[in-house]
Amino acid sequence: MKPEKNPSDFMKKSEIITKTKEFVKRKLGNESSGHDWWHTYRVWKTALQIAKKEGADTYVVQLSALLHDISDWKFNKGDASVGSNIARHWLKKQKVDEKTICLICEIIQNISFKGAKVKNKIKTKEGKIVQDADRLDAIGAIGIARTFAFGGKMNNPIYAPDINPVLHKTKKSYLKQTHTINHFYEKLLLLKDRMNTKTGKKMAEKRHNFMKLFLKEFFKEWNCNK
Ligand code: ADP
Ligand code: NI
Repeated sequence: MKPEKNPSDFMKKSEIITKTKEFVKRKLGNESSGHDWWHTYRVWKTALQIAKKEGADTYVVQLSALLHDISDWKFNKGDASVGSNIARHWLKKQKVDEKTICLICEIIQNISFKGAKVKNKIKTKEGKIVQDADRLDAIGAIGIARTFAFGGKMNNPIYAPDINPVLHKTKKSYLKQTHTINHFYEKLLLLKDRMNTKTGKKMAEKRHNFMKLFLKEFFKEWNCNK
């Protein structure tokens, strides 16, 4: 975090971040769809790393990253306001100023991928950074693990060759899932070119290539190495 001009302000902010970390950890725990505490932890650390490189407000970035999946819209019948309302309530209790709360809630509400053809509404530099960090955790080796965890949790099959991927135009149709391999084509392989920051783009490259390699091997095995 950038040293504040006022040391007591700096202490207050560090304390709020620590308390928020404990709150989120308690709430998410060992959730089994890939949206557990450790997903949030990785997003928090990656977002901070990007924020330092890109010169953003690390206080807003850290609180938004910590609270971004406090209650995911995908588990709330598509309602993105549930998570941001929980975050607002928590931040108010910590006496965070209203302007900062609004910034954070706007990020939480708009961070999620809602379909390949649905417009990304994230506006602030801090939001773009947290979104990049969240998306980095959706790709690469960890991304693959999370995707199959999510698919299993939703009772989706691993793969069904007769069902093709769709580039969804609305979040409602995006919520209708088919099989987990489709998720790579409907979202994960698109993320590399949709990164917001230079730092995020660079970090996405290797993870993207690893997913391509995984899919190549997957289909090779599926087709009996033909
Ligand atoms: P976002 O909010 O951008 O969707 P999250 O942090 O909520 O990001 O994590 C989304 C992750 O959940 C995906 O990257 C993937 O691992 C998993 N996921 C979401 N939808 C599906 C799906 N239909 N099939 C498999 N995994 C999915
Ligand atoms: Ni997330």
